[in-house]
Amino acid sequence: MEIISIVNQKGGVAKTTTTLNLGSCLVQLGKKVLLLDLDSQANLTKSIEVKEEKKKNIHHLLIKEAAIDEVICNTNINNLDIICSDMGLSNFEGELAEVIDKELMLKQSLAKISEYDYILIDCSPSLNLLTINALVASTSLLIPLEPSVFGLEGLAQLINVLKLVIKKFNSKLKVKGVLLTRVDSRSTIPQMFRNQLKDIFDKKLFETMIHQSVSVVKSQMNREPLSTYDKLSRSYKEYLQLAEEVIKRG
Ligand SMILES: Nc1ncnc2c1ncn2[C@@H]1O[C@H](COP(=O)(O)OP(=O)(O)OP(=O)(O)O)[C@@H](O)[C@H]1O
Ligand SMILES: [Mg+2]
Repeated sequence: MEIISIVNQKGGVAKTTTTLNLGSCLVQLGKKVLLLDLDSQANLTKSIEVKEEKKKNIHHLLIKEAAIDEVICNTNINNLDIICSDMGLSNFEGELAEVIDKELMLKQSLAKISEYDYILIDCSPSLNLLTINALVASTSLLIPLEPSVFGLEGLAQLINVLKLVIKKFNSKLKVKGVLLTRVDSRSTIPQMFRNQLKDIFDKKLFETMIHQSVSVVKSQMNREPLSTYDKLSRSYKEYLQLAEEVIKRG
């Protein structure tokens, strides 16, 4: 089982969009996938319908007020499940101030799960305790990036946190890859960034790029991944290609 955190402390780089659509495309390729919303904004939770809502969510699981089967919800898509989030998660950091091993809470919470091929964790736009928990629990991380100068600025900080997590908590953590998202096909700027990123990240840069598209926005308004909303869309094909790359990278 692989656990992949989708991380970038910059807001709006398509972490949530990528978690949902990579997850549903992995399902299309025969995998069993659990999505985990680790953001108190709960955008992922609002992006997909569940068969039956549960009273408890990731917050209760983390503070040990719920067992794992009390928080996993089935979606309308076979083999795609989700652990939801809500505003309550924003108190997490304060609640755990005094707790020893507070960086290990998520890893401990997920220890009993084994029936999935992939768990994808949607992180918040912050390098807070929740994101550290995600990195400690993960086998790898995927970094979505927007092709802009400001998009690159936070990377050094992210890499520092990553080094710290690898050194202190999780020596096996790998970078699965860097993904260019929200690419404007009319502009030549993304290609310039791609070349620059290729120099920095080499093989870690995914071949797949995700372009800006209205079908992404429309599918979100419909609370559906692209795999059920519009299989003919370019974005669906791009996310499917990303899923193939993720599987290949093993
Ligand atoms: N390929 C795309 N084409 C068009 N719009 C997109 C695309 N990907 C994401 N968006 C839009 O960009 C916005 C941000 O996307 P998303 O919520 O996935 O980013 P995020 O990194 O999770 O944000 P946050 O940091 O707030 O959690 C959303 O309004 C989404 O609809
Ligand atoms: Mg998000």
